[in-house]
Amino acid sequence: MPGVEAARVPRHIAIVMDGNGRWARARHRPRSFGHNAGRKAVREVVEACLREGVQVLTLFAFSSENWQRPKDEVGALMGLFLRALDKEVDELHGHGVRLRFIGDLAAFDEALLQRMHSAMAQTVGNDALHMNVAVSYGGRWDIVQASRQAAAAVARGELRVDEIDEARLGQWLSLAELPPPDLFIRTGGERRISNFLLWQVAYAELYFTDTLWPDFDQACLREAIEDYARRERRFGRTSEQIVPVP
Ligand code: IPE
Ligand code: IPE
Ligand code: MG
Repeated sequence: MPGVEAARVPRHIAIVMDGNGRWARARHRPRSFGHNAGRKAVREVVEACLREGVQVLTLFAFSSENWQRPKDEVGALMGLFLRALDKEVDELHGHGVRLRFIGDLAAFDEALLQRMHSAMAQTVGNDALHMNVAVSYGGRWDIVQASRQAAAAVARGELRVDEIDEARLGQWLSLAELPPPDLFIRTGGERRISNFLLWQVAYAELYFTDTLWPDFDQACLREAIEDYARRERRFGRTSEQIVPVP
């Protein structure tokens, strides 16, 4: 990326794709119109990540709490996921994208579940970009499901309670095999995490923009990466420990 040295490009970007409803309302259209318009922004971001050498992209598409939205909106979103899976997967595969869906997938109906599994299987050998889509996902759900796996291992006698540490529990969390997010982006103006990757964002750099998701494009992503590249990540150390004094 011109202007940003390769070492300063985030390896993993996580995005809360927010603002679709407001984007649609401003156009006097139903909220589902905004969700549909958001597909273009997803394509823009994927292209930019491939070009800039970002290794991992995790998108928040549907939260554990979004099930509480009006029935017709949830239905429209499920229909959109189905259409997007049918239309976009081959092209993503052609670009070397590996797709993963994270979240409580058992909550989805059979047709959607089957397509998610087949998209994951089709792209399993790719590594140009690891693209994770969080659906029916909550950071608290993730910590609970990891804890259950730890408890089950203890019950089977394979693990002692005092062996459960951050590294061990972390192995059961979603995305454990990938580097944690370096840059956390939220569009749509709200400055909150809304139960996205709670454990995994412990040391991510947070970036909030008022741009609504359907308007987010490659230039917006570039701006976020440039902002990230200017930051000093200290991970609890002092500035002097990070930049050795000459
Ligand atoms: C984000 O956009 C998409 C989902 C949560 C599925 P919203 O639908 O939350 O849009 P706003 O925040 O109401 O504008
Ligand atoms: C977060 O957005 C979830 C997704 C973008 C999928 P919400 O619109 O659901 O978040 P809140 O309700 O404003 O916190
Ligand atoms: Mg919202």
